[in-house]
Amino acid sequence: MSDKKIALVTGANKGIGYEIAAGLCALGWSVGVGAREQTRRDAAVARLRDAGLDAFGVPLDVTDDRTVAAAADLIAERAGRLDALVNNAGITGGGPQQPSSVDPAVIRTVVETNVIGVIRVTNAMLPLLGRSASPRIVNMSSSVGSLARQSGPGGETSTGPVAVAYAPSKSFLNAVTLQYVRELADTNILINCACPGFVATDLNGFRGVRTPQQGAATAIRLATLPDGGPTGGFFEDAGVVPW
Ligand SMILES: NC(=O)c1ccc[n+]([C@@H]2O[C@H](COP(=O)([O-])OP(=O)(O)OC[C@H]3O[C@@H](n4cnc5c(N)ncnc54)[C@H](OP(=O)(O)O)[C@@H]3O)[C@@H](O)[C@H]2O)c1
Repeated sequence: MSDKKIALVTGANKGIGYEIAAGLCALGWSVGVGAREQTRRDAAVARLRDAGLDAFGVPLDVTDDRTVAAAADLIAERAGRLDALVNNAGITGGGPQQPSSVDPAVIRTVVETNVIGVIRVTNAMLPLLGRSASPRIVNMSSSVGSLARQSGPGGETSTGPVAVAYAPSKSFLNAVTLQYVRELADTNILINCACPGFVATDLNGFRGVRTPQQGAATAIRLATLPDGGPTGGFFEDAGVVPW
Protein backbone atom coordinates (compact mmCIF):
# COMPACT_ATOMS: atom_id res chain seq x y z
CA MET A 1 0.00 0.00 0.00
CA SER A 2 1.43 3.37 -1.05
CA ASP A 3 1.95 6.21 1.44
CA LYS A 4 0.59 8.61 -1.13
CA LYS A 5 -2.81 10.00 -0.21
CA ILE A 6 -5.66 8.90 -2.45
CA ALA A 7 -8.87 10.74 -3.23
CA LEU A 8 -11.96 10.19 -5.32
CA VAL A 9 -13.75 13.21 -6.75
CA THR A 10 -17.13 12.60 -8.39
CA GLY A 11 -18.07 14.69 -11.42
CA ALA A 12 -14.41 15.53 -11.92
CA ASN A 13 -14.32 15.69 -15.72
CA LYS A 14 -15.08 19.42 -15.75
CA GLY A 15 -15.97 22.49 -13.73
CA ILE A 16 -15.28 22.66 -10.01
CA GLY A 17 -14.74 18.89 -9.71
CA TYR A 18 -11.92 18.98 -12.23
CA GLU A 19 -10.19 21.76 -10.30
CA ILE A 20 -10.63 19.90 -7.00
CA ALA A 21 -8.92 16.92 -8.62
CA ALA A 22 -6.15 19.13 -10.05
CA GLY A 23 -5.66 20.89 -6.72
CA LEU A 24 -5.39 17.64 -4.74
CA CYS A 25 -2.98 16.23 -7.34
CA ALA A 26 -0.87 19.38 -7.01
CA LEU A 27 -0.63 18.67 -3.27
CA GLY A 28 0.90 15.31 -4.12
CA TRP A 29 -2.23 13.18 -3.95
CA SER A 30 -3.24 10.43 -6.34
CA VAL A 31 -6.74 11.33 -7.51
CA GLY A 32 -9.49 9.25 -9.07
CA VAL A 33 -11.39 11.29 -11.62
CA GLY A 34 -14.94 10.04 -11.19
CA ALA A 35 -16.89 10.64 -14.39
CA ARG A 36 -19.73 8.88 -16.16
CA GLU A 37 -18.78 9.42 -19.77
CA GLN A 38 -15.64 7.81 -21.14
CA THR A 39 -14.51 10.46 -23.63
CA ARG A 40 -14.90 13.31 -21.14
CA ARG A 41 -13.28 11.23 -18.40
CA ASP A 42 -10.31 10.23 -20.58
CA ALA A 43 -9.80 13.84 -21.71
CA ALA A 44 -9.74 15.12 -18.12
CA VAL A 45 -7.33 12.41 -16.97
CA ALA A 46 -5.07 13.05 -19.98
CA ARG A 47 -5.03 16.78 -19.22
CA LEU A 48 -4.01 16.15 -15.62
CA ARG A 49 -1.44 13.51 -16.50
CA ASP A 50 0.04 15.73 -19.23
CA ALA A 51 0.63 18.29 -16.48
CA GLY A 52 2.62 15.66 -14.59
CA LEU A 53 -0.14 14.92 -12.08
CA ASP A 54 -1.10 11.52 -10.67
CA ALA A 55 -4.69 11.13 -11.85
CA PHE A 56 -6.60 8.05 -12.95
CA GLY A 57 -10.03 7.53 -14.42
CA VAL A 58 -12.88 6.06 -12.39
CA PRO A 59 -16.00 5.23 -14.43
CA LEU A 60 -18.79 6.42 -12.17
CA ASP A 61 -22.42 7.45 -12.56
CA VAL A 62 -23.64 8.39 -9.10
CA THR A 63 -27.17 7.24 -9.98
CA ASP A 64 -26.03 3.76 -10.94
CA ASP A 65 -25.32 1.11 -8.27
CA ARG A 66 -23.30 -1.05 -10.64
CA THR A 67 -20.78 1.64 -11.63
CA VAL A 68 -20.48 2.81 -8.03
CA ALA A 69 -19.68 -0.72 -6.82
CA ALA A 70 -17.17 -1.09 -9.66
CA ALA A 71 -15.58 2.22 -8.67
CA ALA A 72 -15.08 0.95 -5.12
CA ASP A 73 -13.51 -2.24 -6.49
CA LEU A 74 -11.19 -0.21 -8.73
CA ILE A 75 -9.94 1.92 -5.84
CA ALA A 76 -9.63 -1.12 -3.55
CA GLU A 77 -7.45 -2.83 -6.14
CA ARG A 78 -5.38 0.25 -6.87
CA ALA A 79 -4.82 1.61 -3.39
CA GLY A 80 -6.56 -0.59 -0.83
CA ARG A 81 -7.99 2.45 0.88
CA LEU A 82 -9.44 5.94 0.31
CA ASP A 83 -8.26 9.04 2.21
CA ALA A 84 -10.76 11.55 0.86
CA LEU A 85 -14.09 11.30 -0.92
CA VAL A 86 -15.35 14.49 -2.53
CA ASN A 87 -19.00 14.14 -3.51
CA ASN A 88 -19.02 16.89 -6.10
CA ALA A 89 -21.25 15.62 -8.94
CA GLY A 90 -24.46 17.60 -9.13
CA ILE A 91 -27.18 18.90 -11.42
CA THR A 92 -29.69 21.73 -11.22
CA GLY A 93 -32.48 20.02 -13.15
CA GLY A 94 -32.83 23.05 -15.42
CA GLY A 95 -35.30 25.83 -14.99
CA PRO A 96 -37.55 27.54 -14.24
CA GLN A 97 -38.39 25.71 -11.00
CA GLN A 98 -41.37 27.52 -9.52
CA PRO A 99 -42.94 25.42 -6.73
CA SER A 100 -46.45 25.98 -8.08
CA SER A 101 -45.70 24.64 -11.54
CA VAL A 102 -42.70 22.31 -11.21
CA ASP A 103 -42.81 18.87 -12.79
CA PRO A 104 -42.32 16.44 -9.86
CA ALA A 105 -40.11 14.34 -12.14
CA VAL A 106 -37.54 17.16 -12.10
CA ILE A 107 -37.40 17.04 -8.31
CA ARG A 108 -36.96 13.25 -8.33
CA THR A 109 -34.15 13.49 -10.89
CA VAL A 110 -32.29 16.19 -8.96
CA VAL A 111 -32.65 14.39 -5.63
CA GLU A 112 -31.52 11.11 -7.22
CA THR A 113 -28.23 12.74 -8.25
CA ASN A 114 -27.59 15.40 -5.60
CA VAL A 115 -28.72 13.46 -2.54
CA ILE A 116 -29.21 9.74 -3.17
CA GLY A 117 -26.14 9.73 -5.42
CA VAL A 118 -24.06 11.05 -2.53
CA ILE A 119 -25.47 8.39 -0.18
CA ARG A 120 -24.85 5.66 -2.77
CA VAL A 121 -21.23 6.67 -3.37
CA THR A 122 -20.49 7.34 0.29
CA ASN A 123 -21.78 3.95 1.41
CA ALA A 124 -19.77 2.17 -1.28
CA MET A 125 -16.61 4.02 -0.20
CA LEU A 126 -17.01 3.83 3.59
CA PRO A 127 -15.14 0.51 3.93
CA LEU A 128 -12.21 2.03 2.00
CA LEU A 129 -12.34 5.24 4.04
CA GLY A 130 -12.28 3.07 7.15
CA ARG A 131 -8.84 1.83 6.09
CA SER A 132 -7.41 5.39 5.99
CA ALA A 133 -5.56 6.87 8.96
CA SER A 134 -7.23 10.28 8.36
CA PRO A 135 -10.39 9.85 6.30
CA ARG A 136 -12.34 12.86 5.02
CA ILE A 137 -15.68 13.26 3.26
CA VAL A 138 -16.60 16.51 1.54
CA ASN A 139 -20.11 17.01 0.22
CA MET A 140 -20.38 19.77 -2.36
CA SER A 141 -23.41 21.67 -1.22
CA SER A 142 -24.41 25.24 -1.93
CA SER A 143 -25.44 28.25 0.08
CA VAL A 144 -28.66 28.18 -2.00
CA GLY A 145 -29.60 25.29 0.31
CA SER A 146 -29.08 27.36 3.46
CA LEU A 147 -32.48 27.73 5.13
CA ALA A 148 -31.06 30.51 7.31
CA ARG A 149 -29.97 32.57 4.30
CA GLN A 150 -33.15 31.90 2.33
CA SER A 151 -35.33 33.04 5.20
CA GLY A 152 -33.15 35.99 6.10
CA PRO A 153 -33.14 39.47 4.60
CA GLY A 154 -32.02 39.61 0.96
CA GLY A 155 -32.74 35.92 0.31
CA GLU A 156 -32.66 36.42 -3.43
CA THR A 157 -29.26 38.12 -3.35
CA SER A 158 -27.62 35.59 -1.11
CA THR A 159 -29.27 32.39 -2.31
CA GLY A 160 -30.28 32.96 -5.93
CA PRO A 161 -33.67 32.64 -7.59
CA VAL A 162 -36.52 30.35 -6.50
CA ALA A 163 -35.55 26.79 -7.52
CA VAL A 164 -37.71 24.16 -5.81
CA ALA A 165 -35.72 21.18 -7.07
CA TYR A 166 -32.13 22.40 -6.81
CA ALA A 167 -32.09 24.53 -3.63
CA PRO A 168 -33.93 22.01 -1.42
CA SER A 169 -31.76 19.21 -2.81
CA LYS A 170 -28.79 20.98 -1.19
CA SER A 171 -30.74 21.50 2.08
CA PHE A 172 -31.51 17.76 1.95
CA LEU A 173 -27.84 17.01 1.32
CA ASN A 174 -26.85 19.15 4.31
CA ALA A 175 -29.31 17.26 6.51
CA VAL A 176 -28.06 13.92 5.20
CA THR A 177 -24.48 14.99 5.93
CA LEU A 178 -25.37 15.60 9.57
CA GLN A 179 -26.95 12.15 9.81
CA TYR A 180 -23.62 10.64 8.70
CA VAL A 181 -21.78 12.83 11.19
CA ARG A 182 -24.00 11.53 13.97
CA GLU A 183 -23.77 7.87 12.94
CA LEU A 184 -20.00 8.04 12.48
CA ALA A 185 -19.27 10.20 15.55
CA ASP A 186 -17.16 7.44 17.08
CA THR A 187 -14.89 7.20 14.03
CA ASN A 188 -12.09 9.50 12.88
CA ILE A 189 -13.87 10.46 9.64
CA LEU A 190 -14.24 14.24 9.28
CA ILE A 191 -17.37 15.00 7.25
CA ASN A 192 -18.23 18.50 6.04
CA CYS A 193 -20.22 20.41 3.43
CA ALA A 194 -18.64 22.96 1.11
CA CYS A 195 -20.10 25.86 -0.84
CA PRO A 196 -17.94 26.97 -3.79
CA GLY A 197 -19.60 30.35 -4.29
CA PHE A 198 -21.14 31.40 -7.61
CA VAL A 199 -18.76 29.81 -10.11
CA ALA A 200 -18.73 30.10 -13.90
CA THR A 201 -19.43 26.53 -15.08
CA ASP A 202 -21.80 24.62 -17.37
CA LEU A 203 -24.14 24.30 -14.39
CA ASN A 204 -25.20 27.95 -14.69
CA GLY A 205 -24.37 28.68 -18.33
CA PHE A 206 -21.08 30.24 -17.15
CA ARG A 207 -22.94 33.12 -15.46
CA GLY A 208 -20.97 32.61 -12.22
CA VAL A 209 -18.48 35.23 -11.14
CA ARG A 210 -15.80 33.00 -9.64
CA THR A 211 -13.36 30.73 -11.43
CA PRO A 212 -13.58 26.94 -10.98
CA GLN A 213 -10.18 27.10 -9.25
CA GLN A 214 -11.59 29.56 -6.71
CA GLY A 215 -14.66 27.34 -6.32
CA ALA A 216 -12.48 24.32 -5.61
CA ALA A 217 -10.55 25.90 -2.73
CA THR A 218 -12.91 25.16 0.18
CA ALA A 219 -13.45 21.54 -0.87
CA ILE A 220 -9.68 21.03 -1.16
CA ARG A 221 -9.20 22.52 2.30
CA LEU A 222 -11.86 20.21 3.78
CA ALA A 223 -10.46 17.13 2.00
CA THR A 224 -7.04 17.82 3.49
CA LEU A 225 -8.04 18.86 7.02
CA PRO A 226 -5.55 17.95 9.72
CA ASP A 227 -6.56 15.40 12.35
CA GLY A 228 -8.73 17.09 14.94
CA GLY A 229 -10.15 19.46 12.32
CA PRO A 230 -13.82 20.36 12.15
CA THR A 231 -16.57 17.89 11.32
CA GLY A 232 -20.28 18.43 10.78
CA GLY A 233 -19.75 21.93 9.39
CA PHE A 234 -20.81 23.89 6.31
CA PHE A 235 -18.07 26.12 4.92
CA GLU A 236 -17.36 28.63 2.18
CA ASP A 237 -14.20 30.68 1.58
CA ALA A 238 -15.33 33.37 4.01
CA GLY A 239 -16.01 30.89 6.83
CA VAL A 240 -19.06 29.10 8.15
CA VAL A 241 -22.32 29.03 6.18
CA PRO A 242 -25.37 28.98 8.47
CA TRP A 243 -27.56 25.89 7.94
N1 LIG B 1 -21.24 26.48 -10.24
C1 LIG B 1 -21.73 27.03 -9.12
O1 LIG B 1 -21.91 28.26 -9.02
C2 LIG B 1 -22.06 26.16 -7.95
C3 LIG B 1 -22.52 26.80 -6.79
C4 LIG B 1 -22.83 26.03 -5.68
C5 LIG B 1 -22.66 24.66 -5.73
N2 LIG B 1 -22.21 24.07 -6.89
C6 LIG B 1 -22.08 22.61 -6.86
O2 LIG B 1 -20.77 22.26 -7.28
C7 LIG B 1 -20.80 20.96 -7.88
C8 LIG B 1 -20.06 21.00 -9.22
O3 LIG B 1 -20.79 21.87 -10.07
P1 LIG B 1 -20.14 22.63 -11.30
O4 LIG B 1 -20.57 24.05 -11.18
O5 LIG B 1 -18.72 22.30 -11.46
O6 LIG B 1 -21.02 22.00 -12.48
P2 LIG B 1 -20.64 21.29 -13.86
O7 LIG B 1 -19.52 22.00 -14.55
O8 LIG B 1 -21.94 21.13 -14.56
O9 LIG B 1 -20.09 19.87 -13.40
C9 LIG B 1 -20.95 18.93 -12.83
C10 LIG B 1 -20.25 17.61 -12.82
O10 LIG B 1 -21.12 16.63 -12.26
C11 LIG B 1 -21.16 15.53 -13.15
N3 LIG B 1 -22.38 14.74 -13.01
C12 LIG B 1 -23.66 15.13 -13.11
N4 LIG B 1 -24.48 14.09 -12.94
C13 LIG B 1 -23.69 13.01 -12.71
C14 LIG B 1 -23.93 11.63 -12.46
N5 LIG B 1 -25.17 11.13 -12.45
N6 LIG B 1 -22.87 10.81 -12.26
C15 LIG B 1 -21.61 11.30 -12.30
N7 LIG B 1 -21.32 12.58 -12.55
C16 LIG B 1 -22.35 13.42 -12.75
C17 LIG B 1 -21.02 16.15 -14.53
O11 LIG B 1 -20.67 15.15 -15.48
P3 LIG B 1 -21.10 15.27 -17.06
O12 LIG B 1 -20.04 16.11 -17.71
O13 LIG B 1 -21.08 13.84 -17.48
O14 LIG B 1 -22.47 15.89 -17.09
C18 LIG B 1 -19.90 17.13 -14.23
O15 LIG B 1 -18.66 16.46 -14.21
C19 LIG B 1 -22.27 20.57 -7.97
O16 LIG B 1 -22.61 19.72 -6.89
C20 LIG B 1 -23.00 21.89 -7.83
O17 LIG B 1 -24.30 21.75 -7.33
C21 LIG B 1 -21.91 24.78 -7.98
